[in-house]
Amino acid sequence: MNLNIENLNKCYGELCVFNQLNLDLKDVKSVALIGPSGEGKTTLLRLIADLETADSGSISFNRNHKGMVFQLQNLFPHLTALQNIVLPLTKVHNVEKKDAEQQAIQLLQRFKLSEHANKKPAQLSGGQQQRIAICRAVATNPDILLFDEPTSALDPEYTAEVLDLIAELRGEGMEIIFVTHEMGFARQIADRILFVADGGISFNGIADDFFGEAAPQRVKDFLGKVLKYN
Ligand SMILES: Nc1ncnc2c1ncn2[C@@H]1O[C@H](COP(=O)(O)OP(=O)(O)OP(=O)(O)O)[C@@H](O)[C@H]1O
Ligand SMILES: [Mg+2]
Repeated sequence: MNLNIENLNKCYGELCVFNQLNLDLKDVKSVALIGPSGEGKTTLLRLIADLETADSGSISFNRNHKGMVFQLQNLFPHLTALQNIVLPLTKVHNVEKKDAEQQAIQLLQRFKLSEHANKKPAQLSGGQQQRIAICRAVATNPDILLFDEPTSALDPEYTAEVLDLIAELRGEGMEIIFVTHEMGFARQIADRILFVADGGISFNGIADDFFGEAAPQRVKDFLGKVLKYN
């Protein structure tokens, strides 16, 4: 991906989340957004996804078709897993119902979720629901997948299976931007880490530098807190 943000300002009323934000990413494949709560990770992801508009400044992104996966509970509760994947294909992407079903069945097979095809979300574990949500995003054949804390609502045992799926997609060449508190995952998967804090991006670099001795004090303080019990 190539992503360029220039002089971006974003406020909610009195609260300004980003003040003259600048970012230039060229030929990056996977980006982790990390930072303290309430500092703007979700806002930045939503700006990149065109779900939010900036007050001023510009965003230029060479990825048009974005698939988005949120924390949890974004499946339609009254539809089965299969129908959840089929619906956006037929309604938004104008795929014939038969073809959409075929695609959905193949995707569920590929990710070893076939046995859940006819279950509704309430009959699935959090990890299964989240993997179905990822299948739904993948089904539309996006240029990039955007994840906002895809595992933060999950029990630890389900977290790994969702992260494995994301890693698998990345391994197949899918580009990703993800907000995460899973430091080990970010370290393994991200070829760029952005630390979102203090009205902007206060670190932009590779994982070895983010987790290394030369990281800014602000990053070290943050990592000291989140890695305390790891
Ligand atoms: N729609 C909104 N209206 C008003 N304020 C908002 C809105 N969305 C976010 N905010 C505020 O903007 C700031 C940044 O929020 P954001 O959700 O981007 O943070 P975050 O880094 O994703 O936090 P978390 O780690 O808790 O998810 C927060 O102070 C939040 O309260
Ligand atoms: Mg958030």
